[in-house]
Amino acid sequence: MSEGLIVREANLSDAPALHDFFEKLFAEPLDTLGVRDRPPPIQEEIELISKMVAEKNSCLLLAFKDRTLAGTLDLQGCPHPQKQHSAGLRMSVGDRFRDQGIGFALLEAAIRFAQSNQLLTRIELEVFQNNEAAIHLYRKAQFRVEGTKREAVQINGKFIGVLSMALLLSEFRKDQPSA
Ligand SMILES: CC(C)(COP(=O)(O)OP(=O)(O)OC[C@H]1O[C@@H](n2cnc3c(N)ncnc32)[C@H](O)[C@@H]1OP(=O)(O)O)[C@@H](O)C(=O)NCCC(=O)NCCS
Repeated sequence: MSEGLIVREANLSDAPALHDFFEKLFAEPLDTLGVRDRPPPIQEEIELISKMVAEKNSCLLLAFKDRTLAGTLDLQGCPHPQKQHSAGLRMSVGDRFRDQGIGFALLEAAIRFAQSNQLLTRIELEVFQNNEAAIHLYRKAQFRVEGTKREAVQINGKFIGVLSMALLLSEFRKDQPSA
């Protein structure tokens, strides 16, 4: 893990920092992310944190670089009994913190959380096909592509496919990252 980097679970006092983080992220002209026009209000952040802390197959992880919130990752466990072994993953790293290994550190922490969780055996996510950095990162963390939703989104007048990727914990090998 890079120097000055701390990854930990969120608590309610993180809501204002999370709000600022998403405000900056949503202001970026990203064509690789389905973002909302505005960041969630602080009350929504508080509700999200409370929910993630309360649910036993969910977590919200934050990465701090030199005490500044640099990245977030949420694993949202499915409440349905037939799917509660599966959690959906979403993540982002602030623009000035990218390509420094923070995304990978967050993914490693999420996998450790899932491994120590009684319910989870599968982590799944969706990623736009044009998001090369994210796809590279997920492959490096041993996620596999399970399918492509063709022309699933339209960005700046262009159709883009969305990849479904997943990691089965039973297939994860700690010392074998595959790029
Ligand atoms: C995707 C994202 C989370 C990655 O976070 P990060 O902190 O930059 O990730 P890391 O630094 O750990 O790893 C990035 C990897 O992508 C590689 N990379 C960067 N740009 C790339 C590109 N255009 N094509 C291929 N690989 C690329 C880097 O070299 C690095 O790989 P390496 O460690 O093997 O050298 C971050 O770019 C981000 O938040 N982007 C905007 C929001 C977003 O896209 N979220 C994901 C939605 S699914």
